[in-house]
Amino acid sequence: MNILHLTFSSRGEFSESQRLSRKIVDMLFHWNPNADLVVRALGDGALPHVDAEYAFMQHSCDAGRCGTGSSARSDELIAELERADVVVIGTPMHNLSVPSSLKAWIDHVVRARRTFTMTTSGKQGLLHDRPVYIAVASGGRFSGANAHQPDFLTPYLKSILASIGLHNLSFFTVEGTGARADSVDAARRVADDALQAHFNLLGFQHACEDLD
Ligand SMILES: Cc1cc2nc3c(=O)[nH]c(=O)nc-3n(C[C@H](O)[C@H](O)[C@H](O)COP(=O)(O)O)c2cc1C
Repeated sequence: MNILHLTFSSRGEFSESQRLSRKIVDMLFHWNPNADLVVRALGDGALPHVDAEYAFMQHSCDAGRCGTGSSARSDELIAELERADVVVIGTPMHNLSVPSSLKAWIDHVVRARRTFTMTTSGKQGLLHDRPVYIAVASGGRFSGANAHQPDFLTPYLKSILASIGLHNLSFFTVEGTGARADSVDAARRVADDALQAHFNLLGFQHACEDLD
């Protein structure tokens, strides 16, 4: 089994999304000790934005622009995604949605004629579906009774990943990381319990055997 672990926090060892996503990877390894792991830590802004050549190429390949500019980086990121049997994403919420580092990755992998095709009813995904685990950390709360802000991150990721063929998404969150240490501890425990319950329920071993 190939696992692709992508992280988008700039907070290093203090990152809750990185910790939670690492825990997901650990659980996958628990069931699949021989799994291969590729890790991309992109929270430091290391991934540049797509360039002008890429932007023209999204419209058409006619002007001989295909294969130029940042399409080589896009090729590499898409190939990495295609090789993965399971994708694990660790991301903060930034300004009610995804951080710009994750948006940059999305711009590279949501690519016309490569990962989606345009139809009269919209984008149709060209990747085969696979489990995608998404660990989200936020300073405040965005779900449940005590939510005090809208959540554009979850619906956005569901919609954009579905557009390239990835529908099998599972979200886990640590919300309220800006609160007192004891509250953050409690939020961490809730997230870890939800994760454990998910993997127990899934009988993950069997699911992974099917992937081999
Ligand atoms: C630029 C920026 C924007 C943020 N916007 C939000 C926000 O809209 N909602 C929220 O709850 N927290 C927001 N936060 C707080 C982060 O989500 C929080 O620190 C989270 O724990 C970061 O993830 P990490 O622990 O994985 O680094 C923001 C932080 C930064 C740096």
